[in-house]
Amino acid sequence: MQQEVLKTVYLKDYQPTPFVITHVDLHFDLYEEKTDVRSKMQVKLRQKDFVGSPLVLTGENLKLISVKIDGKLVDSSQYSLTEENLILNEVPEDFILEIHNEIKPHENTSLEGLYKSNGNYYSQCEAEGFRKITFFYDRPDVMATYTTTIEADKSQYPVLLSNGNRKASGDSSNGRHWCVWEDPFKKPSYLFALVAGDLQVNRDSFITCTGRSINLEIYTRSEDADKCDFAMQSLKNAMKWDEEVYGLECDLDHYMIVAVSDFNMGAMENKGLNIFNTSAVLASPSSATDRIYERIESVVGHEYFHNWTGNRVTCRDWFQLCLKEGLTVFRDQEFSSSLGSKEVNRIKMVSELRLRQFPEDAGTMAHPVRPDSFASIDNFYTATVYEKGAEICRMLFVVLGREGFRKGIDLYFARHDGQAVTIEDFIASLSDANSVDLQEYLDWYYQAGTPEVKAHGAYNADLRTYTLTLKQSCKPTPGQSIKKALPIPNLMGLLDQQGHDMPLQLSGEENISESQKLIVLRKNEEEWTFTNVKQKPIPSLFRQFSAPINLSFDYSDEELIFLLAKDNDNFNRWNAAGILFEKTIIGLSDSYVEGKSLVAPEMIANALKSVYMDESLDRSFRALLLNVTSLAEISQKMQDISVEGLYQGRKFMLESVARTMEDCALDLFHKNQDLGPYEFNIEAVGRRDLKNRSLFLLRHANGEKAKSLILSQLQNATNMTDEYAALSLLTDIDCAEREDALDAFYQKWKNNDLVLNAWISAQMIPMEKDYAYEKAQELLKHPAFNALNPNKVWALVGGFCLNFVQFHHASGRGYQFVASQMISLDRTNPQVAARFARAFSDWQRMDKGRQQLMQGELHRILAEKNLSKNTREVVSKALG
Ligand code: BES
Ligand code: ZN
Repeated sequence: MQQEVLKTVYLKDYQPTPFVITHVDLHFDLYEEKTDVRSKMQVKLRQKDFVGSPLVLTGENLKLISVKIDGKLVDSSQYSLTEENLILNEVPEDFILEIHNEIKPHENTSLEGLYKSNGNYYSQCEAEGFRKITFFYDRPDVMATYTTTIEADKSQYPVLLSNGNRKASGDSSNGRHWCVWEDPFKKPSYLFALVAGDLQVNRDSFITCTGRSINLEIYTRSEDADKCDFAMQSLKNAMKWDEEVYGLECDLDHYMIVAVSDFNMGAMENKGLNIFNTSAVLASPSSATDRIYERIESVVGHEYFHNWTGNRVTCRDWFQLCLKEGLTVFRDQEFSSSLGSKEVNRIKMVSELRLRQFPEDAGTMAHPVRPDSFASIDNFYTATVYEKGAEICRMLFVVLGREGFRKGIDLYFARHDGQAVTIEDFIASLSDANSVDLQEYLDWYYQAGTPEVKAHGAYNADLRTYTLTLKQSCKPTPGQSIKKALPIPNLMGLLDQQGHDMPLQLSGEENISESQKLIVLRKNEEEWTFTNVKQKPIPSLFRQFSAPINLSFDYSDEELIFLLAKDNDNFNRWNAAGILFEKTIIGLSDSYVEGKSLVAPEMIANALKSVYMDESLDRSFRALLLNVTSLAEISQKMQDISVEGLYQGRKFMLESVARTMEDCALDLFHKNQDLGPYEFNIEAVGRRDLKNRSLFLLRHANGEKAKSLILSQLQNATNMTDEYAALSLLTDIDCAEREDALDAFYQKWKNNDLVLNAWISAQMIPMEKDYAYEKAQELLKHPAFNALNPNKVWALVGGFCLNFVQFHHASGRGYQFVASQMISLDRTNPQVAARFARAFSDWQRMDKGRQQLMQGELHRILAEKNLSKNTREVVSKALG
């Protein structure tokens, strides 16, 4: 078997380019059969020591027509053209380079570079897509100003957009028209954007803190024009938040968002011209759930916040991706928390981190937040870079405090505005602004793996002292067998028997006593002794999840129930419930495997019930508390996973809890109906969360009895949150009504692409029998599915991967199905295909039989001819 060798890029090999490109003048002529691209670049030698260096530009799949230097044609004998590069050996020190090439956007299914979707043109250049448009230094440390002229047929493509300000426009011959855009800010090529098509615009404006008025525009296809209000409001909220919290004002006169249904990611922060997946921008109460509203708010915020953290200050190279993504995710999380409930948001972030990032950090694809090598950078847009990257920013925020962090960010912009920088530059700014040395935190960026922290407490009743010992360790990860100790901030309290935080005073410390304290573990093992501790405390550790670690502390069930009921930190109350679920379900799973009878966890169910009924608590928080930990998450904590045992254990747990709560769930279900028009705010979302969690509990207490409530909610719902909650519950019940309900839902929504994605995902949820597997095969052939649209693929194949029981089916058919989809997807869209390899990355945790099946599928993928480098890299890494 012949295996292509992957070309790996290393961080340690970083070199600046010998030339800089200061300005680019781009000219696009869009025709149905091809697009002509003419680029005129101002090129200069960077420094004298580079004299004599060749100019090596990157281009992929381009048809080169001509090259000119200072207006003169360069003969093809004077340059060389390889698969990836255009190399000019002898060039002046300061000159104008003109390149003319052709591309075929209508044949581009990778959705990277310039491509067509529903007849319109859109571009996507991050990370390395600009090279599919024209030859360039397609890397983030080459920043230039751009002028872009677009010419196209006027009736088919009435709207022509690019970055910056519209400078001129007019008609040309043959029914064509043109438009010139000028972007005054220098930017790397990955932030370039172009859109041409028949689009409708939604307009609004924002007055900045200095009184400037900014035109805001959201472009969609005409049928979606009525679904932009929420995104527009979110954009204005984000602009205001960045002014208030970071003193950052929008630097542009125009800010445009374009919605496109074929898109690999959620959205892209191109300067002044964000391009969004329709799924991350369009919403109306009847067609979008509360979860979609939340996502839109955070994605709109995220891309807007990149305007400073990413665009004004960008990354020196792609190894520094977390510089912009980690920080911007942290910013969007804080933004969402400022508008919604802080603790509910924190709980959601941590569940996401544990569900997506922890397994990545524990599997064969583990990598540092700042990786030191890659074959395809597309594979590093991971939960580790994003979510763990954001957690590092959060730790720094907690350690420095709000003001200190702000001072650090101010200095970061003062020093680096307009530059392409590194993680070390970022940490240096935070350190210098606060006159502290934060270098130790760099290890969080360099070292992969989730630290394990073991805590132990000892109370001395005679001395009235409590000694807390923390030990850290980290398992080896690929390429890093020895791990250093990291700085781990622990925000903690000590509870007395009534649940009050006792004053905390460390021995040797003067009389400062706080009810909550931040202590930082730096060594492999450290201890802290608290004095004047009047009774044996119950410790509440890592409040707010103050560090992205796995904590183990030997709590008894009684202590966990106490924390669930009494902790002053709501995050830790939720966390205690999670530990209880996990412990109990693992116990039930073991009993099931050993053929013992399963014992209902009554004490826990009752404890959950009283918190669930506590009206003084936020409704969304109560709903989250009863979101029984998923199989995927619990499986991470098990040594020998039995898929069947785990499934039965969780089901038993859920059903016994649900039965204990049946009366109270029915009561809350009725009490929290809201019959008024849909509103998106903490109160209204909370009511729907609690009502739908109650319906979920009723379904698990007694499916037959709950069915009529579910059916009536499905028929009478006035918003998609309720309608979808009912549909997904009903789909999960093996009953005669479910196929009719699915058909009716399809008929009702068949013209709404995004709603149909949810309809597909709902059918991937049921774990019982062969339902989801068979549906997956049917849906592949359904008109609602389209293998070229990433949202559809996510809904179907992604939905299937989340179905723990079906994906891990003992026959191996689940693995085979996903692998086959990856193979066919790889031919059209390698970026998306490669992302499915994650589903296989933790094969080492499974039983021997499944390990072999999973590895077998990975080998089958690798044996494919012409596999993309994206998929080849991730699949090889997944194999370990
Ligand atoms: N810059 C990314 C989008 C991107 C990533 C484009 C990789 C091409 C390749 C953007 O800022 C982003 O991170 N988007 C996220 C959403 C965000 C809220 C975390 C996404 O698209 O999922
Ligand atoms: Zn981003």
